[in-house]
Amino acid sequence: MRILICGGAGFIGSHFTRIRLREHGDQVVVLDKLTYAGREENLADLRGDPGFSFHAGAIEDAAAVRAAVQGADGQAAVDAIVNFAAETHVDRSISSSEDFVNTNVVGTSVLLDAALAHRLRYVQVSTDEVYGSIEEGTFTEESPLAPSSPYSASKAGADLLVQSYAHTHGLHTSIARGSNNYGPYQYPEKLIPLMVLNALHGERLPVYGDGLQVRNWIHVTDFARAIGCVLESGAPGEVYNAGGPDECPNIEVVRRIIELTGAGDELIEYVTDRPGHDRRYSLSSERVRGLGWEPRVRFADGIGETVEWYRENRPWWEPIRSGAYREYYERQYGRALG
Ligand code: NAD
Ligand code: DAU
Repeated sequence: MRILICGGAGFIGSHFTRIRLREHGDQVVVLDKLTYAGREENLADLRGDPGFSFHAGAIEDAAAVRAAVQGADGQAAVDAIVNFAAETHVDRSISSSEDFVNTNVVGTSVLLDAALAHRLRYVQVSTDEVYGSIEEGTFTEESPLAPSSPYSASKAGADLLVQSYAHTHGLHTSIARGSNNYGPYQYPEKLIPLMVLNALHGERLPVYGDGLQVRNWIHVTDFARAIGCVLESGAPGEVYNAGGPDECPNIEVVRRIIELTGAGDELIEYVTDRPGHDRRYSLSSERVRGLGWEPRVRFADGIGETVEWYRENRPWWEPIRSGAYREYYERQYGRALG
């Protein structure tokens, strides 16, 4: 298959790109704006592979999308688009939602028009957050959309657009909704890498509210493989949830990271809660299991390997921590941590 992977220089997109190239022999074109979260280093090992090419550009830029989708003859140069490109951090969407609407909603509409022009297969990567919070039980694909944050509202808007192209134009679209991903190459604004790097540096560990919010953790390679199953076998217009095998309250995740890094409990600092904070996410994944998918990595194993990866890959995170991330961190946590 020839696949245009949008957002392939980010966390999940880079794993998906590697798996499709190395395990499936696909031809892959990555289109990525290289925002603060996207890094060509995430794909460094793929440079020079004849099946891989990279375009710098934004998904909301129709000309950039056309250049990535079409060959010089105006014919489609790819068979499918898989869209990972997004603004992804809930806290940043609370500070300002503009980029979230531009990339997540407008960008998705540009990609859908490009897919429609060439009748390409289209897979949208989405999130459990579109369903909102669930105190007990699990969300199925039939659960109503009830997003809480500007981030999840923009993702829900994109999902509705995708479904409208299937319904109105008969475009072969599918949506894959994942739960909280973790693993190598995750930008350290997110809970797990933030806590790992702070713990390794003996810095305070800012836990929002009471720390009893629950997340359904999925290893990034498991989510990437679920998206691959959806791409290969997903039914037109269908949604597929992919949740991890384990759920865990945030404070337990933080305590496990403390054990694995050899840090001390005194680093934990309870800080003001995130506004509108969802209490718990949980997904039923029966439908994607029907496509032959099952998660391979349990959280107890994956978290240890992830901590090890950050320990061993200092050259990956050092430039991030000393650059613009520092300013973000001061803005986001400075007052709460004093
Ligand atoms: P990320 O923030 O690590 O990466 C996002 C990538 O998109 C970056 O490479 C960035 O440069 C690129 N990008 C951003 N704006 C762009 C634009 N306008 N045009 C082109 N490229 C742009 O994100 P992630 O965690 O890998 O998430 C990928 C996708 O998976 C997102 O759609 C997200 O909503 C979804 N998702 C994430 C999780 C999670 O736990 N991280 C869970 C479920 C779903
Ligand atoms: O559920 C899928 C979603 O998971 C994805 O769609 C999002 O793109 C991704 O960012 C993630 O969203 P969360 O808001 O759940 O992830 P985050 O890592 O920001 O936070 C996880 C939990 O940890 C959440 O309850 C907030 C809490 N937290 C987070 C940070 C960054 C803290 O307590 N302290 C922190 O410093």
